[in-house]
Amino acid sequence: MNSVFADIGTSVFETMSRLARERDAVNLGQGFPDDPGPEDVRAKAAEAVLRGWNQYPPMLGLLELRQAVAAHYRRFQKLDLDPEAEVMVTSGATEALAGALLALVEPGDEVVLIQPIYDAYLPLVRRAGGAPKFVTLRPPHWTIEEAELAAAFSDRTRVALLNNPHNPIGVVHGTDALKLIAKYCLKHDAIALCDEVWEHLTFDGREHVSMMAIEGMRDRTIKIGSAGKIFSLTGWKVGFVCAAPPILKVLARAHQFLTFTTPPNLQAAVAYGLMKGDDYFFTMRARFQRSRDRFAAGLAERGFSVLESAGTYFLNVDTSPLGQLDDVAFCRRLVEANGVAAIPVSAFYETEAVRTVVRFCFAKSDATLDAALARLSEAARTPAIC
Ligand SMILES: Cc1ncc(COP(=O)(O)O)c(C=O)c1O
Repeated sequence: MNSVFADIGTSVFETMSRLARERDAVNLGQGFPDDPGPEDVRAKAAEAVLRGWNQYPPMLGLLELRQAVAAHYRRFQKLDLDPEAEVMVTSGATEALAGALLALVEPGDEVVLIQPIYDAYLPLVRRAGGAPKFVTLRPPHWTIEEAELAAAFSDRTRVALLNNPHNPIGVVHGTDALKLIAKYCLKHDAIALCDEVWEHLTFDGREHVSMMAIEGMRDRTIKIGSAGKIFSLTGWKVGFVCAAPPILKVLARAHQFLTFTTPPNLQAAVAYGLMKGDDYFFTMRARFQRSRDRFAAGLAERGFSVLESAGTYFLNVDTSPLGQLDDVAFCRRLVEANGVAAIPVSAFYETEAVRTVVRFCFAKSDATLDAALARLSEAARTPAIC
């Protein structure tokens, strides 16, 4: 068996989910909303199942969806994409990431990763034969330090993988940070592989800026999006990848032999959804922002030190003021003794892990958030056990 996958043990995500089920805990560990998603988009999918095309769609995706993706990014991010040569539909962002790494990386190539990293990145980089080079971010500001970029990049760097907005830390990397990364991509002739699945989940009036919009990066950026995040339909697994034609051509080869296509009925519904008026997207954002504020205020009232969340479905708590210096032990106690599941942020580091930050998903109903807060009152009062 291939050691990259065979050697992966039980992840903390699985452990926390299992404990949450066993203890009947309020599960704020996993990142999905508990509302059913927009009814009109779901109705379009149902209609397409009944009356639409249910055989293999074109390999690159339905043209109507590729056109909708290009129009959507023109409207919200001022990007100019050719839907026929620069947009491809994938089975979720995860497939787009896997395909891109398989298509770009030759054994021994270096891939720059910015820790904390989404759990899929490292196994996929390794399986593609890449050598990971880490840039490490630390709380409370999670700033990308130029010295770390300078040390991580080299002339062997093939890809820099960036997640923006950044799960799990809820940071929206702005133009200055993007320009800094771009400087090193340009210097070392590297491609920026940009996982922008949280692009619509930005708060307090922040706008998402795509790496593609940064000077010099238009033709060396691969931009990945996900309808699952845009429409709160995480199970749909409809993703999109945008890149200049010579890059997209190679990505299409990887896609051809990974999944080949994505369910056409879901593609049709996503095409409809992406063309919805601005109002839908701003209302959706405001709704999640309200949940963030409700949960953050409740945590602060109970004595937790809440870190800023500028985007995503997540907010983080710094456990060090509580005397808790081991996030895994803290989360285990939280689920076992208090009945609330969260994720220790150290799970997102491969090296130099930060061990005093815990991630909560606030994309839940008021009732769920309030139930979690009631249980968390006690956790903040319990003396440190670590
Ligand atoms: C940073 C990041 N990338 C990718 C994904 C997966 O996206 P998809 O469900 O479209 O594969 C997630 C899901 O949480 C994510 O947080």
